Amino acid sequence: NGLLGEVWDDEMSSSMLGTRMKKVVQNYQAMNKYGVELSGPGGVSGTPKLSGPELLCQLKDKVEVATLTPDLQPFSLLPWATQLPPQQLTSDLGPYKSCAVVSSAGSLRYSGLGKEIDSHEAVLRFNAAPTTGYEKDVGSKTTIRLINSQVMASDDHRFLSSSLYSSGVLVAWDPAPFSADLTKWFNRTDYPIFAQYQRYRRLHPLQPFYILHPRFEWQIWQRIQDNMAEPIQKNPPSSGMLGTVLMMSLCEVVHVYEFLPSRRKTELCHYYQRFYDAACTLGAYHPLLYEKNLVKRMNQGSDRDIYTNGRVTLPGFRKLNC
Ligand code: C5P
Repeated sequence: NGLLGEVWDDEMSSSMLGTRMKKVVQNYQAMNKYGVELSGPGGVSGTPKLSGPELLCQLKDKVEVATLTPDLQPFSLLPWATQLPPQQLTSDLGPYKSCAVVSSAGSLRYSGLGKEIDSHEAVLRFNAAPTTGYEKDVGSKTTIRLINSQVMASDDHRFLSSSLYSSGVLVAWDPAPFSADLTKWFNRTDYPIFAQYQRYRRLHPLQPFYILHPRFEWQIWQRIQDNMAEPIQKNPPSSGMLGTVLMMSLCEVVHVYEFLPSRRKTELCHYYQRFYDAACTLGAYHPLLYEKNLVKRMNQGSDRDIYTNGRVTLPGFRKLNC
């Protein structure tokens, strides 16, 4: 299609990055803060390239969307464990017919996608992404907000008091040891997720608030690594990837907006901030480049949907015939 501009190439590799970013990615590939242990074909050249449907079935098969419940050790031994939801998120929420995952990318600015995003039964947003003042481009409905522990802990985000976080269902996560051992994690979180969780629950006891089991982040990481031809960063996937898989477990169909950049692609990091850095779109700490390769391979929509609307279409797991 000669009239169509370039969309995401599903074989993007760190060798296609500029010198500065290549160095950053290579540093993270060498660093191993979370004790990742390589197994399987990951990073070996000659990794067979699976088809979209094969990748979707792998993801459905090997990733479990689990959340912390009060019965799990070491939490079961602590008085505040009763603040955790008694049931799994996946048994409390959905199933939804159609869902939107709204990345926070700068390319959402001037997209005019707000109405389309709000037309979904459920909408997932990330971290500090606002809707007020940006309704035309990102809509105003928030069903679920996925937040990382850094946002929960940082003073600038005023997590405990800002109205940004007080509507919809909250889901939090923290980069955990690769073993996903809950006691090891509890003793060495990246940010104080549990202290902040307890404070928030005391202030907003009625708002549903889940914490993702660390198995979830590393099971997704393994799917990415096993399907790439080079070693990826040994850090958990970005919130965008976690939220996309989360919604695939709750929805019949998932539309992800501006995760694969549209014709509006820009170095503007977030649609809500005047800050420019290509690493926001291509990844530095997170294996974001490879997450995007995987999502591109699983996309059931057209390249034109990506180009004009920044929209990817993924089937929900329930709908898959594996
Ligand atoms: O920056 P933050 O993690 O809050 O953004 C939410 C998600 O949106 C990211 O985890 C990433 O997956 C996606 N994103 C992106 N390109 C950007 C900014 C964010 O793909 N420029």
